[in-house]
Amino acid sequence: MQNAGHIGKIVVLPPVAGRHEVTAKAVRGMKVDPDGVHLVVGGIGGFGLVAANWLVEKGARRIALCSRRGQPDAETRAMIELRAEWRRCGFGPCLRHHGCRGRGDASGDASFGSTVRSVVHAAMVLDDALISNLSRERNRPVIETKAKGAAILDRLTRGDRLDNFILFSSATTLVGNPGQANYVAANGYLEGLARARRQEGLAGLAIGFGAIADAGYLTQNADVNDLLAKRIGKTALKAQVALDMVENHVAADPGTVDAAVVMISEIDWTAARNLPVAATRSSR
Ligand SMILES: NC(=O)c1ccc[n+]([C@@H]2O[C@H](COP(=O)([O-])OP(=O)(O)OC[C@H]3O[C@@H](n4cnc5c(N)ncnc54)[C@H](OP(=O)(O)O)[C@@H]3O)[C@@H](O)[C@H]2O)c1
Repeated sequence: MQNAGHIGKIVVLPPVAGRHEVTAKAVRGMKVDPDGVHLVVGGIGGFGLVAANWLVEKGARRIALCSRRGQPDAETRAMIELRAEWRRCGFGPCLRHHGCRGRGDASGDASFGSTVRSVVHAAMVLDDALISNLSRERNRPVIETKAKGAAILDRLTRGDRLDNFILFSSATTLVGNPGQANYVAANGYLEGLARARRQEGLAGLAIGFGAIADAGYLTQNADVNDLLAKRIGKTALKAQVALDMVENHVAADPGTVDAAVVMISEIDWTAARNLPVAATRSSR
């Protein structure tokens, strides 16, 4: 409604007592401790790098970027070298990283230390195929990068006082996406983990992003972008706009288990209605 992008009328329904949870908890802003380490897994390039920059803009001074490459690519070097905020911040360890291994692991080179205040898990590997063509071997990297990575990050940071534990999921957990069963399952795990952490009183937020227009995978894979546009419409958000929405959610977050998962996506529901999964759901 704010974007004035709608056609026709918008019906706003008030919460129903007993059915919707309404809490009066104080609204809090997003906390980014300037003295803490902020770890972005999958933060070398792509949407993860934009998220790292977002943390720097929020006041982070010590950023650790992890990926299997373990070395900044051209995009990351440009960010570090050209932006004044990054030059000020002690861009320290660019950790060599294998499947989110950390402290105590055989690789021995990814110690998170004791001052971690934020974890952003943005790593992903895709291997899309119809389910009949998928195998355990094909699914493993897709699932493990997200789910096992998140489980390890959860375990290794239990002793840290985390302000943010943010898992990048996908709106495909809401609408499904033919050919992405492994990816959707892996993201489903992230959402369950965010809820489970909140149940235990720990920081946890999983965000189901829709398509991102200007950073990450879809910018490198025009054919996938076109296919997705046919399925959910040409509705991709700019990465910065999506992250601003995350911040708005965090600011208004009541801290409930339900609020541990949020979808940040624009979806053309007329197009999405034709998705096999969406059609099955709506026909129930
Ligand atoms: N782009 C979108 O439109 C979109 C939409 C919805 C959700 N998301 C979510 O946003 C996140 C980032 O997406 P993206 O488009 O930026 O992806 P991307 O460009 O493919 O980047 C993925 C990153 O993950 C790293 N990575 C892969 N396997 C890893 C592992 N085992 N351990 C550590 N790092 C690993 C990669 O670096 P190495 O190759 O060096 O390991 C790379 O930095 C993903 O979680 C994705 O699900 C993106």
